[in-house]
Amino acid sequence: MSQEPRPYYPGLDGVLAGETAISTIEGGLQYYGYAVRDLAEDATFEEVAHLLLRGRLPSEEELADFEAILVEASMVPDEVINFMSTIPLHVNEMDVLRTTVSALAHWDEDPSGTSNVTKAERLLGQIPILIAARYRQRMGLRVLQPQPDLSVAANLLYLITGDEPSPTQERAMDVSLILYAEHEFNASTFTARVVTSTLSDLHSAVVAAIGALKGPLHGGANEQVLRQLQEIGSPNNAEAWFRDMVGDKRRLMGFGHRVYKEGDPRAYVLKDYCVRLAEERGQMELERTAEIIERLARDTKGLYPNLDWPSARLYHYLGLDVDLFTPLFVASRVSGWCAHIIEQSQHNRLIRPRARYIGQTGLTFEPLSERESAE
Ligand SMILES: CC(C)(COP(=O)(O)OP(=O)(O)OC[C@H]1O[C@@H](n2cnc3c(N)ncnc32)[C@H](O)[C@@H]1OP(=O)(O)O)[C@@H](O)C(=O)NCCC(=O)NCCS
Repeated sequence: MSQEPRPYYPGLDGVLAGETAISTIEGGLQYYGYAVRDLAEDATFEEVAHLLLRGRLPSEEELADFEAILVEASMVPDEVINFMSTIPLHVNEMDVLRTTVSALAHWDEDPSGTSNVTKAERLLGQIPILIAARYRQRMGLRVLQPQPDLSVAANLLYLITGDEPSPTQERAMDVSLILYAEHEFNASTFTARVVTSTLSDLHSAVVAAIGALKGPLHGGANEQVLRQLQEIGSPNNAEAWFRDMVGDKRRLMGFGHRVYKEGDPRAYVLKDYCVRLAEERGQMELERTAEIIERLARDTKGLYPNLDWPSARLYHYLGLDVDLFTPLFVASRVSGWCAHIIEQSQHNRLIRPRARYIGQTGLTFEPLSERESAE
């Protein structure tokens, strides 16, 4: 084996760890060559999910077929819903989602023979049901059935809150799903690719990805953003809170990004929807607090918002409980994960990097009877 020193980049920062045709960050985020800004302007999440899973935007007829597939796929076996009701109520929503997605695999028809695209479509339909059912179980509310004529975005809001959203609310949710859908080799997507590279199955890869997304440095940040904003309380408190946060060397959640050092373009798109919803709900005070924090972070720390910054406020204005924020990220990102799982399977090579060893070598082995304890 070669002993030549190899370059090491902590956190794999800047390392090209594979090839993909699904999305690129270079020249502005694009999904399969389409600028995400354009998709967020004119497409629906269903069109984007079709693009990610099948590699092209659908025609009207293909979209209608795809929507019908998602409606049919949204059936969650009663056994899984009943099992979910036995999970203690204090358990975090992301943990419940991870467990129940894993459980779904046991009821997936012919898991070995079904194509990954079909499995992905099923998960895309089933995950909103799981998220909403768990929430309503926890709140002691009746679990609702999806309405076949509603979009994914509208159904998500209806299934959780029990109310059909207004067109503005539906579009705001739709745009957040489009923006969250895919983002190259982020930590959870890379996790899904690593699992897939061992020739494991799609559900295992998605379960692992949910575990990776849960962490507050990744998807879990959107929940922490709202908790920090609630801690601040009002615009008058924002400057003092920010000073304390810097003094205590805490992280400002929803700010900074491994690849976007001068701002995440997705955050600016979603901010417009935040303002619209905040005006509609008379919650402009929270927008003013957010403005002050944005200014202070930029001017004093050179930090810019990432997508989790506006999405936390957006979901809050949509009347959603903070524990649902990261599961909603899953409802969208599962489309990107599955696109990567499919791509990895088609061009597979086991992902198995090397580590730089920093431990001791050449120690003399002493039999147990001669070994002294550490103290
Ligand atoms: C996303 C994130 C993990 C990327 O980090 P990264 O590229 O690995 O950068 P590092 O964690 O090495 O941070 C580099 C420097 O910027 C600082 N920094 C980065 N993000 C920061 C934040 N949100 N708040 C405060 N300081 C931050 C770090 O403290 C570090 O400073 P130092 O060099 O003085 O120690 C980081 O920006 C972060 O923790 N953000 C908050 C969580 C979040 O919003 N996650 C969602 C990401 S989409």
